[in-house]
Amino acid sequence: MTEATVGPSVAIARKFLEAGKLVAVPTETVYGLAGNALDPDVVATIFEVKGRPRFDPLIVHVPSWDRAQDYIQAPPAIAEALAAKYWPGPLTMLLRRNPVIPDLVTAGLDRVGLRCPDHPLTRDLLQQINFPLAAPSANPFGYVSPTTAEHVRMRLGRKIPYILDGGPCRVGIESTIVGWEDGKTIIYRLGGVSVEQVELVTGPVTVHSHSTSQPQAPGQLKSHYAPAKPFYLGNIEAIIKEQNLSTPGILSFQHRLGGYSNNLVLSPSGDLHEAARNLFGMLRDLDHREVDVVVAEEVPNHGLGRAINDRLRRAAAERS
Ligand code: TXA
Ligand code: MG
Repeated sequence: MTEATVGPSVAIARKFLEAGKLVAVPTETVYGLAGNALDPDVVATIFEVKGRPRFDPLIVHVPSWDRAQDYIQAPPAIAEALAAKYWPGPLTMLLRRNPVIPDLVTAGLDRVGLRCPDHPLTRDLLQQINFPLAAPSANPFGYVSPTTAEHVRMRLGRKIPYILDGGPCRVGIESTIVGWEDGKTIIYRLGGVSVEQVELVTGPVTVHSHSTSQPQAPGQLKSHYAPAKPFYLGNIEAIIKEQNLSTPGILSFQHRLGGYSNNLVLSPSGDLHEAARNLFGMLRDLDHREVDVVVAEEVPNHGLGRAINDRLRRAAAERS
């Protein structure tokens, strides 16, 4: 295939999607690799293009809670309350699926992950088409998620016809994934809606999103969001000293360290929203510089900081 066209046209995106093709779409979290969620052949091409194992289910994107009802059965009242508060927004809910959702989308599981993304172009698009969009993050499986159209083009530009350019993603890390087991609220992935924000609606939750090598879902795989370069997480100066590193890439939270030319700072003002927005772009940037290794530190572990630390730990995890 020739190189993807990159542009802001919802009409062109719609035309390709209605013809059964894949289009990269902007969301407030990360760019998604989207296709018709109701067409198993299209869904199969999403797995192929992304290089993703078929046992890893896809999130289905809808334009509203109302339209979500076509794809689920008997959602709990608390799900509706969460949607009322955080949709459109970075929250995915696992709900009992209606049989119209193909097995391939959920990897045969009874629940489908639904989300209503908060980006004007993609909301427009979702309102214009008569099917929901299955969309994983638009990166090759296991690599850092894309937060600009250019990130998508670099890795997937030869595999899809169109990238809908909606500018840089406002939130910058993926949606929080929530579901219910025996009436208890579980967070399966930390993300753009903080644990504190979910608890405002649901009361205390259990977080099952810790890194593991025995995942229920591959998004929980310990090594994920992995840069290509060796990546260390901890006290930056101690690591540099211990490992005797001469030209490390450095990703610090708020302050620069003296004397290193490849030091990126997530948020000079110490703002976790800004840090989240910069995280994946800076990981990529450091990955492309003339450095042998990248060294990073954790950020304060509250609010969005928990999701940022989760991604940093996975980036640092041993790869098998
Ligand atoms: O912010 C986001 O959620 C982005 C944008 C594009 O919407 N999407 C995204 O998709 O991050 P993906 O495929 O990269 O990550 C989705 C995660 C995977 O870890 C998958 O295993 C889990 O959600 N997931 C999806 N459907 C599920 C289901 N039915 N049951 C359990 N886990 C599910
Ligand atoms: Mg992903």
